[in-house]
Amino acid sequence: MNTDMLYALRDPAGVPSHPLVFLILGVITFALHMAAVQVMLGAGALTLRGAFSAHAHWRRLAAAMLTTSKIAVSVAVVIGVAPLLFVQVVYDPFWYTSNVLSAWWVIGFIFLLIAGYIALYVFYWKNHDIAADGGKGGLWLVASLAMLLGVGFIVHSLTNQMLFPEQWMAWYAPGGVVQPNGQALHYWNLPRFGFFIALSAPVTGAWLYAYRRYLQASSHVDASFITWLAPLAQKLMLVGGVVAVLLGAWWMATLPEKMAWFALSPWSLVALLALLATVSVPLLLGKRMDQGLWGYVTFAVGAVALIVVGAMREVLRYVTLLGSHGYDALDYRINMDWYSTGLFFSTFGVLGGVTLAYLITVAWQAGQTEGTYTPSPAVNRLGSMAIGLLVLWTVSYFLVGFYVWAR
Ligand code: HEM
Repeated sequence: MNTDMLYALRDPAGVPSHPLVFLILGVITFALHMAAVQVMLGAGALTLRGAFSAHAHWRRLAAAMLTTSKIAVSVAVVIGVAPLLFVQVVYDPFWYTSNVLSAWWVIGFIFLLIAGYIALYVFYWKNHDIAADGGKGGLWLVASLAMLLGVGFIVHSLTNQMLFPEQWMAWYAPGGVVQPNGQALHYWNLPRFGFFIALSAPVTGAWLYAYRRYLQASSHVDASFITWLAPLAQKLMLVGGVVAVLLGAWWMATLPEKMAWFALSPWSLVALLALLATVSVPLLLGKRMDQGLWGYVTFAVGAVALIVVGAMREVLRYVTLLGSHGYDALDYRINMDWYSTGLFFSTFGVLGGVTLAYLITVAWQAGQTEGTYTPSPAVNRLGSMAIGLLVLWTVSYFLVGFYVWAR
């Protein structure tokens, strides 16, 4: 597959903003997607560990983590759509070819995701009070985690197949015989997949620190549970961090020849330093983790570290496609569309900001209130504003659509 052919596969309409905007947004939303995926997997694994335990603290944690995991799946799916949009805009020749080569799996991905999510809900429905009664139907949870991991594996394979245009013809027509059924996944790198999955442990450790701080601020504190959580969070961060770094090193050692330059480059070193910085935060903060907002800092630093890891992963992709295949994602023809660019950023910043502020305020205040929580008039106004903005957004979207259609 030569460079001209790759360029010919681009969308002739160009892109509606500078390609760098799409690359940056792709990295940020990929990191957010990974954070949600990792909390989902980590919280699911803690549920499995705790629900069947004789230890009351483990069961209590399992009950909380089951709710967390359930919500994290929906966050992971919703935020997964964003990098999907960005990657297909600037890397469309690669992304679509990879998808078509494994079309069966691209569609199967959706069914597997639905089945995995339903299995998680079945486990939830079977367990009304894990803290008091212990867990039932653990196989549903095991099946759910396996299916969700399967979903991740499919995306991993699609993301990696796009990096090997030199193999596409051999995958499409092995031995010269065309195989158009799209039934095979053609490439994967288990250490790379394992690295992103193993990061679930330190990310969930950082999440537990934040959860612990949240509980401390409530008026009905269970001191022994909170004390019990700290070493568990620490262990997840340290042991999980070491396992993830080892898998990362293995990934670097097994990079194909055309990507081997990346292994010992400053880029991979920066990613390593970002991860080490996150793991060291609780050690540096010590007792301060129990004061003010410090308990949340580890997760915030972890989120920044994931953005750094995501950026380094993007450098690997961008330089590989440019250096080995002559494809420069940054020279995509720009067909500037200020309306859609403005709409995107105002949706993200204004509508997203107000709605999230409302949801986080309600979730925070409800958790700090004993008995029934009643939001203040100011909080209610924020909620009404979020709904009003959504209505305004929908109306403006259709108005512009009709205007363009009628012109
Ligand atoms: C719920 C289970 C999921 C898991 C465990 C998971 C896991 C992962 C992992 C490990 C990667 C990194 C792959 C690599 O670079 O080797 C990844 C990337 C990605 N995921 Fe997910 N994912 C899940 C669901 C989804 C969903 C539902 C979507 C879309 C709606 C999605 C969209 C993406 C995209 C677009 C990328 C790659 C972005 C890029 O290459 O720039 N994921 N995911």
